[in-house]
Amino acid sequence: MPPTFRRDVSLAPFNTFGIAARARRFVSVESVDELQALRDGPEWDDGPRLVVGGGSNVLFTRDFDGLVVRIATRGHRHLGDDGHDHLVEVEAGESWDGLVRISLAAGWPGLENLALIPGSVGASPVQNIGAYGVELVERFAWLEALDLSSGRIVRMDAAACGFGYRDSVFKRGLRERIVIVRVVFRLPLRWEARIDYADVASRLASNSSPSATDVADAITAIRRDKLPDPRVLGNAGSFFKNPVVDATTFDALRADEPDLAGRVQPDGRVKLAAAWLIDRCGWKGRGLEGGGGRAAVHDRQALVLVNRGGASGADILALAEAIRHDVGERFGIALEVEPLIV
Ligand code: EPU
Repeated sequence: MPPTFRRDVSLAPFNTFGIAARARRFVSVESVDELQALRDGPEWDDGPRLVVGGGSNVLFTRDFDGLVVRIATRGHRHLGDDGHDHLVEVEAGESWDGLVRISLAAGWPGLENLALIPGSVGASPVQNIGAYGVELVERFAWLEALDLSSGRIVRMDAAACGFGYRDSVFKRGLRERIVIVRVVFRLPLRWEARIDYADVASRLASNSSPSATDVADAITAIRRDKLPDPRVLGNAGSFFKNPVVDATTFDALRADEPDLAGRVQPDGRVKLAAAWLIDRCGWKGRGLEGGGGRAAVHDRQALVLVNRGGASGADILALAEAIRHDVGERFGIALEVEPLIV
């Protein structure tokens, strides 16, 4: 059975920025069969298409004159273990934070550092989500996706996904060609807490052997303190990637700005805190004058742009451009936008 279409639908409930763009057609799919029927049906080839999960990493800058497909599949399955890891298969439409809590309750730790990241399981490989020293790729076994050209379900391992820092093939060449339908995670049988980030270590200072749930709770509390709740203040998490520069550039910047922090990467290059650069340019908590200040920089985390109510996607983009300009001027660094701009 092909799913039911709705026409001229507001996308405000389907993007965490809360931007009031509209879609010409909208459909929600609740099973992989429904998705396949949709792909094989007559409405599929009628104009542009966009697949959304939680809508937590997208900025709509205009109405979408095409078909928006929301993936609303549910469920998970323990496939067994391979001696090192539990293998857990999860449907793409499950909420990410919901999965973190399900896995902890079931005794499969490993995702706790990624607690409270907004969005869906199917979106998690797209930007290789990461936080507090853990990236999705470390917990990833394989995924299954609908190949839109053949109509078949294909299996992709980590190498085929081309994971990088907040990056994968799904952001690049494969963006229009496949839809992720389920992800299989590998969660370690012999678990160890990863609490080397200063914020996390200090929150757990009085706990000599934190459980995975303790780590998830600590990280949830840290995120609640500094990141805006999208239900209250629209946002898409970090709006820019943290820039990575070579060691020489880092030393030169540091000579002028002794407080500049950096994390040395395995290849010797240094990842800078974009939040710090933006903050230093005086943007933290500030709104864009044009547009009545509706698009603003969050007052507790300068990497997060927020919709104070009624901002358009164009307002947010104009703010992002002003920030990019100032950071470029002052530090000679070109910030790269992280969410998908539609
Ligand atoms: N900082 C400032 N001003 C601010 C905020 C932060 O100067 O307003 C400085 C702080 O001193 C801190 C540094 O910037 O030392 C880094 O800040 P934070 O620890 O908050 O992390 P981040 O680098 O800004 C990244 C991820 C987040 C993830 C956190 C925690 C990216 C693009 N963002 O942010 O991921 O939760 O680390 O690991 O890599 C997301 O991708 O949407 C996201 C929220």
